[in-house]
Amino acid sequence: MQRTKVIDALKRTDYGSDILVEGWVRSKRGSKGIFFIALNDGSTIKNIQIVGEDQNFDEATVKLITTGACISVEGKLVESPAAGQAVEIQATKIEVLGACDATYPMQKKGQSFEYMRQHAHMRLRTNTFGAVMRIRHNMAMAIHTYFHEHGFFYFHTPLITASDCEGAGNMFQVTTKNLYDLKKDEQGKIIYDDDFFGEQTSLTVSGQLEGELGATALGAIYTFGPTFRAENSNTPRHLAEFWMIEPEIAFMDQEELMDLEEDFIKYCVRWALDNCKDDLEFLNNPRLDPHLIERLEGVLKETFVRLPYTEGINILQEAIKNGKKFEFPCNWGDDLASEHERYLVEEHFKKPVIMTDYPTAIKSFYMKQNAPQGEGSVGYKGCVAPGPTMQGTDVLFPAIGEIIGGSVREESLEKLQGEISRRHMDTTHLEWYLDTRRWGSCPHAGFGLGFERLILFVTGMQNIRDVIPFPRTPKNAAF
Ligand code: 4AD
Ligand code: MG
Repeated sequence: MQRTKVIDALKRTDYGSDILVEGWVRSKRGSKGIFFIALNDGSTIKNIQIVGEDQNFDEATVKLITTGACISVEGKLVESPAAGQAVEIQATKIEVLGACDATYPMQKKGQSFEYMRQHAHMRLRTNTFGAVMRIRHNMAMAIHTYFHEHGFFYFHTPLITASDCEGAGNMFQVTTKNLYDLKKDEQGKIIYDDDFFGEQTSLTVSGQLEGELGATALGAIYTFGPTFRAENSNTPRHLAEFWMIEPEIAFMDQEELMDLEEDFIKYCVRWALDNCKDDLEFLNNPRLDPHLIERLEGVLKETFVRLPYTEGINILQEAIKNGKKFEFPCNWGDDLASEHERYLVEEHFKKPVIMTDYPTAIKSFYMKQNAPQGEGSVGYKGCVAPGPTMQGTDVLFPAIGEIIGGSVREESLEKLQGEISRRHMDTTHLEWYLDTRRWGSCPHAGFGLGFERLILFVTGMQNIRDVIPFPRTPKNAAF
């Protein structure tokens, strides 16, 4: 007999038919010679109920049907008398495929996420992680579908690179050299000519620079791949290995970039509501997030606020005057801390904010420079800033903070070179990038969405380590 997945078995109405299901025992209870098994095979958050009579099975088999055990069940599909389920299976044959003794770490209900992280290889079999992983898959499908439907080409950028896109130096090195026997020059600098690539290479922090090559040839591309950052940030929002989606679009301006950011996120949230109903309903509970679905629906109704950084600083300064206390300073020119972002999003506007026109000094070299005006500059909708600003355009979300980092790109070779030299950046590995501005340069823009931050928002989970199967964080590369 062919196996029926639990998700399909639950939809069947051919009562009386023979059926075969296989999966893991979530729980077993029994009374008066009858036992009930809740069986789950990962295809859905829902379990199928298996009913059996002790007398029809040998005692040894029944004993092995414990929480976590893997079993194969043949029986008859029947209408269920119990509330909350349409069908159940009257078992005629049960085979224990993999027994599971009391040392199984996921045996108890309601274990802490902290505990489950230490058993990340087994936590996938819990209801919560099953739900999160199915939603994760669905979000990947949403993303590919959105871009495909909007004429973007899926573009693969390298993971191993010799350039530092964000210029922050948070890169993991890639080498085949014997680290105990490094060849160095007279100044003590490592010589890489005998290394695999013949030069210093690292894991990418962003595919953007190569993405720009794609966009300025194909019109609109997106990447979706692993990204690596060796930042020593032990926060619930940072991973050392995360997945990033980076669309890049030729002929796009600042307003259109914001439109895209907003439309894209809303599409993903709508997809979750349309396609992940059962899992969202499960996650929408008092232990996890009792307002999850309400919050997701709320975001769809909101028009995101479009706010120049300078105006944001004014709002924060005003709040301080009125008695609001922040741990970190927020004067014009400061990089906003997450407490500032959250104040703007959660307390002041109470909706997502697209912040734009950041001070040049706190953003990356490639962003489009706003027109200067004296010591300052003029940006979005004529907003005058006291210093130079760039068209960096980030999306700030409730509970998450920065979910998207994006910008219009500087298309003028001269201005871009000016910024690179002001930052004393080494152009050896950027000449190919500058060629996009040398030959047929065009206005273009793009952004990067942190996939796990989107999953955090959509699932209501609190810690980024709990929305990726095997998190990589400082001092942790287990599994
Ligand atoms: O703001 P970031 O650093 O922007 C870039 O890398 C640009 N090159 C993107 C672009 O314009 N194509 O990163 C983009 C997003 C952030 O908004 C955040 O959501 C996520 O990536 N992100 C991280 N997610 C998890 N762990 C980390 N350590 C992250 N760093 C950034
Ligand atoms: Mg950023």
